[in-house]
Amino acid sequence: MTSMSAPLLNPSLLAGDHANLAASAQLVADLKLPWLHCDIMDAHFVPNLSFGPETLAALRRAGSTLFFDTHLMLDEPHRYIEPFAKAGANLISIHIEPAYDHAAALARIRALGCQNGIVLNPGTSAAAIEHLLALVDLVLVMTVQPGFGGQPFRRDMLPKLRQIDTWRRERGLNFRLEVDGGIDVATATECRAAGADTFVAGTSFFRAADKPAFAAAFARM
Ligand code: DX5
Ligand code: ZN
Repeated sequence: MTSMSAPLLNPSLLAGDHANLAASAQLVADLKLPWLHCDIMDAHFVPNLSFGPETLAALRRAGSTLFFDTHLMLDEPHRYIEPFAKAGANLISIHIEPAYDHAAALARIRALGCQNGIVLNPGTSAAAIEHLLALVDLVLVMTVQPGFGGQPFRRDMLPKLRQIDTWRRERGLNFRLEVDGGIDVATATECRAAGADTFVAGTSFFRAADKPAFAAAFARM
């Protein structure tokens, strides 16, 4: 994949209906969108809680065949790779900030049959993940401080996207470059110009009155 790869809108279940997450996932599937972003929070790495592996397993039992892009916002993500893989995650992304063996955890994700991803908070420089770029299927650049939906987009993350996209092209790598936080059609357009190809959208997606039109705007990006 290059920076010219097709744009992918990736709705975040965090902004869905927590009393009926299966229906929220079905809204995504009905639009023929292939991915669903699943935010997992531990109230330590981020000051909030969301849901866990049983939620993913329940969505699978309810018939969802979406690609579960599972974003682990956890202090000890390496301890939860196996439960999420077993629960039906297709991609598991882990943050660079906590101290653990990142390369081993990324390899473990692939060994369990999932794609892997590395994630950076807004305060973390691109250089912190440079050594891992050849080992990943996805790099997620947080465009808000993680923990809550509905926060404003951090435009100061655009140079970080450009840097990572440049490394990707220079080195002939093919990971996805994903953004997460404050993404709508306008901010996604800016991220697209900086090299992003995968766009997590929570609030803007679930609040969009005309979801087919919203999805179409991303497809044209
Ligand atoms: C933030 C989560 C995001 C969140 C984005 O901690 O990682 O995935 O759902 O929500 P919006 O799109 O509302 O900023
Ligand atoms: Zn997320």
